[in-house]
Amino acid sequence: MVADWKMRKIEIFENERATGYDQFVERWIPNYHYFMGHLPDLLSDAYPKELLVVGCGTGNEIMCFVNSPERWQITGIDPSPGMIIQAREKLKNRDNVKLIEGLVTDLAIDKKYNAATLLLVLHFIEDNGNKLQILKGIADRLMPGAKFVILDITGDKKQIRDNLEVLKLLLPQGLNEQEISERLNRIENKFHTVSEERLSELLQEAGFEKPLRFFQSSIYMGWITHKKPNPDLHGGSTI
Ligand SMILES: C[S@@+](CC[C@H](N)C(=O)[O-])C[C@H]1O[C@@H](n2cnc3c(N)ncnc32)[C@H](O)[C@@H]1O
Repeated sequence: MVADWKMRKIEIFENERATGYDQFVERWIPNYHYFMGHLPDLLSDAYPKELLVVGCGTGNEIMCFVNSPERWQITGIDPSPGMIIQAREKLKNRDNVKLIEGLVTDLAIDKKYNAATLLLVLHFIEDNGNKLQILKGIADRLMPGAKFVILDITGDKKQIRDNLEVLKLLLPQGLNEQEISERLNRIENKFHTVSEERLSELLQEAGFEKPLRFFQSSIYMGWITHKKPNPDLHGGSTI
């Protein structure tokens, strides 16, 4: 029988890909910890502090919020059992963190959050309606005006190719040449990356404002946007 996530084309992280993930980010994502570490600052104006972390993986972004001075109520969701297990281990005894194995569309629609993150997830999802679906799924669970932060591999083909050359120069010494070339090839040819313009279009179609690119480290771009305000309260149709 074909696993449900295979049929739904969900990128599941299992076995060594899951257990080795934290080591992988150290090597392959320059400034990963800088970006994560400043997330609580970026979202500090959210009130109440109700955060939705979609594709939370091993819980790295959630750790930054539980270690920040403000007390957040956090829901982390991820479809990979191997990733959620590690997040549960890291975050055990944290009564302000709820971890769920699943997709954002599995979450109740009546619970609304005041902030959300989607870090290093979107490039695994095809732009055939599926990217829009996850972004809409997030927008539907946010209060009007809520902040949303994305980190993703972004760019048109040429931009990705040029930034991969930059990434190559930033990789730590001692990585295996074959591993480097396989991974760079996978990023260039197998991931579902989109241009900055397309990302902006998808976000606006899903119910967000035009996003701002506020961060870049080679192929990785950080974006910030807000859920559009409720049209009923801002001069929308009165019919
Ligand atoms: C590269 S990891 C990022 C984990 C974490 N956000 C981080 O930045 O360290 C990608 C994660 O996306 C999850 N994922 C894959 N497809 C997803 C989907 N459709 N919705 C939510 N998460 C998804 C995977 O299970 C995996 O844990």
